[in-house]
Amino acid sequence: MNKKAIFIITMVIAVVVIGVGIFFAINNSSNNQNNNIDPNENINNDNNSNDEQNNNQNDTNDNIGNNNSVVLYFSATGNTKRIAEYIQDITNSDIIEILPQEEYTSEDLDYSNDNCRANIEQNDDNARPEIANRIDVSNYDIIYLGFPIWWGDVPKIILTLMDTYDFRGKTVILFCTSGGSGIEQSLNTLRDYEGINFVEGERFSSSTSKDEIEEWICSLN
Ligand SMILES: Cc1cc2nc3c(=O)[nH]c(=O)nc-3n(C[C@H](O)[C@H](O)[C@H](O)COP(=O)(O)O)c2cc1C
Repeated sequence: MNKKAIFIITMVIAVVVIGVGIFFAINNSSNNQNNNIDPNENINNDNNSNDEQNNNQNDTNDNIGNNNSVVLYFSATGNTKRIAEYIQDITNSDIIEILPQEEYTSEDLDYSNDNCRANIEQNDDNARPEIANRIDVSNYDIIYLGFPIWWGDVPKIILTLMDTYDFRGKTVILFCTSGGSGIEQSLNTLRDYEGINFVEGERFSSSTSKDEIEEWICSLN
């Protein structure tokens, strides 16, 4: 092989080596660029996941209003039921009706008759009319407890409720309906049950409007 041939071969090898070197150099730099993009993408993803977390937190906050309060009520003729449903709607609470094992007939409720069932129960300190349904309040912190006023006080079925279930540690906001009597005596009676944060609440008439109930709910804060 003459000198010229050796020179040409050397040059070709040199060109190939330099070419391969440049190729890898360019490739590396574009990889680095991609690597620079990825972390940014991750930052964006992190932002997204922060957004999700915030959304979840908002959901949780929303749920506080919705899921940890319940409207619990007894109603013999529908007045308290109507108010209870307004409260449920306004506060987005769950609702549970306290159902008597033996429904009250109109004769049972005829308080002009000394011997009607309701009057006999109200005159008997030990009367505890049975409740038909199981009432689970364990998941709730706030309970709106509603009832009609019977002879100035809570109907005895409310005491059955208090004797049967544990309300300690909970906030119990009272509400009632009546022909005119207030809620104060009911609060006095219920205060015998210790460890419960009772809120006196309000007495309503059979014609109280939803707007009035909303005003009352707002005033509770
Ligand atoms: C046995 C009995 C006793 C009552 N005692 C009173 C009372 O002392 N004061 C009063 O203002 N209303 C009294 N009421 C009227 C009820 O409190 C009122 O009609 C109430 O809105 C009924 O609620 P409800 O429809 O949810 O059962 C009495 C009603 C009954 C049946």
